[in-house]
Amino acid sequence: MQVVRIRGGQPLDGEVTVSGAKNACLPMFAAALLTDEPCILHNVPDLSDIRFMADILQHLGAQVTRIDDNTWSITAQTIGTHAPYDLVRKMRASVCLLGPLVGRMRQAQISLPGGCVIGQRPIDLHLKGLARLGCDVTISQGYVYVDAKRLQGADVFLGGRQGSTVTGTANLLMAAVLAPGVTHIESAACEPEIVDLCHLLVSMGAQIEGIGSHALTIEGVDRLSGFNYRVVADRIQAGTFIAAGLMAPSGTVQVKGVNSNILTAFLHKLEEAQAPITVEKDTITVKGGYIRGLKPIETITLPYPGFPTDLQAQMCAIMTLTEGISIITERIYPNRFMHVPELQRMGADISIEGSSAIINGVEHLSGAPVMASDLRASAALYLAGLAAVGETWVQRIYHLDRGYDRFDEKLRDLGADIVRMEATEMPKALAESCIG
Ligand code: EPU
Repeated sequence: MQVVRIRGGQPLDGEVTVSGAKNACLPMFAAALLTDEPCILHNVPDLSDIRFMADILQHLGAQVTRIDDNTWSITAQTIGTHAPYDLVRKMRASVCLLGPLVGRMRQAQISLPGGCVIGQRPIDLHLKGLARLGCDVTISQGYVYVDAKRLQGADVFLGGRQGSTVTGTANLLMAAVLAPGVTHIESAACEPEIVDLCHLLVSMGAQIEGIGSHALTIEGVDRLSGFNYRVVADRIQAGTFIAAGLMAPSGTVQVKGVNSNILTAFLHKLEEAQAPITVEKDTITVKGGYIRGLKPIETITLPYPGFPTDLQAQMCAIMTLTEGISIITERIYPNRFMHVPELQRMGADISIEGSSAIINGVEHLSGAPVMASDLRASAALYLAGLAAVGETWVQRIYHLDRGYDRFDEKLRDLGADIVRMEATEMPKALAESCIG
């Protein structure tokens, strides 16, 4: 296991280009199962989650080749329908294999992904949706079995208590594109990653209307062709670099390659806080050194186009240093605050009331050994470490590697003092202060 040592307080200066979006790529890898023709995906980030997905597709019988750093080819001529626990447990997103297997093979057996540290993550809406499309769905011994011999287009309502479901929408779309007849999905997710998936499916010959809205109409086709597609940029990674630039003591960071239109809620909140940010076409420029003078904010995470839950931890990190009281409420995963006790170890003044974090900005954070609990919490700890006085040691950084490619390197290129090493090389006293 590796750890990262961050010596805080370095200015960040220069350009950073955002990679392709993990959460768009994963269902796109699954979409390659919808056809027996070759599929090529460009701008794929180099992440452990992508490698897990490649392993599962290979297990199902697809030929998966990494052509170069960011380009993958997948050909699924003959495939199986069984995704076992061993593979699925490594990554929840493997549940998005359900839709393509149902669409192409008319059956699927997938291990249920189970809970996860950010909260309950049921798939009841996915299963209800598939049942509406004529599938027989049963759950037995930790597996979901779908028999889709009678797959047929239908009206499906995908709204749940927390709004729509992103992966559920991906699953329903990928089943419906090959289902006879017309499917209407109401309360569909309209996250940019879903919009990108729709465009990819259309490039394969799918008939989809309403792309980008909460109401999708899909007219099933008999077969789909392969694809040659470039994945949309990762808006969450972009937001994380913006936060890094803002939290640095000085310097100017230019975040390149992302369309600011897909980051509106986050950028508007920072504008409201009077953060020094300028937005032009595909470049967002942010200045460090002003964080104490920002205005505190109040925000609530919501499905797109609302404030993204995947930037909640990073926004918490920013607000730890902004004078005044900020309130950040989680509506998607009400308990997604595992970063809070770790930020407290660094001197942050945060209390949790129900599903809200009440943050009273402090003058400075101080470096400490901290433990990453999940992907976005890891990012928040990196950000706090970059801004803190002294050394921060982030442990369990394998969480970060699931969603941020070459993150240390990109931050180092901007001027950060970051070193990664084996956990055994970490000073023993520091490692022990984090145990228990
Ligand atoms: N929900 C249900 N029933 C369902 C499905 C979801 O009640 O059948 C609830 C969930 O419990 C949650 C809410 O609906 O409260 C939204 O869940 P959703 O299904 O939209 O989440 P997801 O598809 O499992 C994706 C991203 C997450 C991101 C969420 C919300 C991928 C692979 N994952 O998850 O990304 O937080 O949407 O935007 O696309 C991350 O990248 O760090 C991450 C966790």
